[in-house]
Amino acid sequence: MKKILLLFIIASVSFSCIKKAEETNVAEEKSGTGKEFEMYKMSEMAMLMEQMYVDNEQLRQRIVNGDTIGKFPNHFLKIHKSVMTDEQENDAFFKLQAANFINAQELIYEDPSNAKEHFNKAVDACVQCHEVKCGGPIQRIKKLYIK
Ligand code: HEC
Repeated sequence: MKKILLLFIIASVSFSCIKKAEETNVAEEKSGTGKEFEMYKMSEMAMLMEQMYVDNEQLRQRIVNGDTIGKFPNHFLKIHKSVMTDEQENDAFFKLQAANFINAQELIYEDPSNAKEHFNKAVDACVQCHEVKCGGPIQRIKKLYIK
């Protein structure tokens, strides 16, 4: 069961920004450099995103259970600086959405008595950026919402 789950995670990770992955493939084939492993390497940004996903899954659980919220995870701020798979994506839209997202995430910690509302708004901010930048993980991100 664990193995199946792991496979599923790997599959969903590798297909996260499907369009991009295909483009890379084509470019790679054309240039004939044959650096096959390069495509599977996760960018700094992709790793940060996966970390933020896990952190927010745990935060979600704490909110649902009514546990203490703790402190804003400062590594989230790396969203402003991490290297992306495609640096052209780091445009004005991305920067604005990143700032919105950080503000929304910080509010959860600043006003923990309304943690659920703030948390769902932070997830909205994830989705808003993803609708434009990286459609693949949206279904996964939406699972974070607290109903
Ligand atoms: C400002 C825009 C933006 C925000 C906000 C954002 N993301 Fe992302 N996300 C991206 C981009 C761009 C990528 C692709 C990164 C790359 O390939 O280098 C990505 C990739 C991902 C991935 C796939 C990583 C992989 O394995 O390839 C996941 C999962 C993810 N984001 C989850 C989240 C979650 C959860 C949140 C909110 C807590 C979030 N994202 C907020 C832009 C954003």
